[in-house]
Amino acid sequence: MALTVDDIVGRCQAAIAEHTPPLAVRDVLDELVADPIALPGALGPVEQGGITTLHHAPDLTILHVVWVPGMALNPHEHRMWAVIGMYGGQEDNAFYRRVPGGLEPSGGRELPAGDVLVLGDDVIHSVSNTRRQFATALHVYGGDFFAGERSEWTFDTFEERSRDIAGSMRLFDEANERWRREQTQG
Ligand SMILES: [Fe+2]
Repeated sequence: MALTVDDIVGRCQAAIAEHTPPLAVRDVLDELVADPIALPGALGPVEQGGITTLHHAPDLTILHVVWVPGMALNPHEHRMWAVIGMYGGQEDNAFYRRVPGGLEPSGGRELPAGDVLVLGDDVIHSVSNTRRQFATALHVYGGDFFAGERSEWTFDTFEERSRDIAGSMRLFDEANERWRREQTQG
């Protein structure tokens, strides 16, 4: 039987009942992104960037994330563990440390299709897609991604402010618009 979104949600729900939820979720995503047919089949064709919520509960959020070519999301924290499983394209993660008055860069990690990244609950990262193709991923969070107070920082001054999810969504809209324009202009 073909993989479905319900299967993905069920596997992640089983994983968070285990002793070390992020590692159990990592194992689930490792298996899912290793199959180049089943996961894209379950998630459907990708025509534009955006975030689709597959599951949303107080203890678990599962998102289908599509990064538009050329887009970058400014530094932010989640305040909960997260596991990212790439199945198409590549996302580039940059990491940061809090310092008085802002942030300081602290390494990075390129995440090509087939890779899975576990982020601890105190991680601060920014994400970019520098490739000329959509970067597609499953993002699993150990809590309610859409609730709770969190911070984000500007790229240029590292000034801290309250996380603005609506603002992030607008970034996707703008990136989609720009990418569509680029495509039609050849
Ligand atoms: Fe993030």
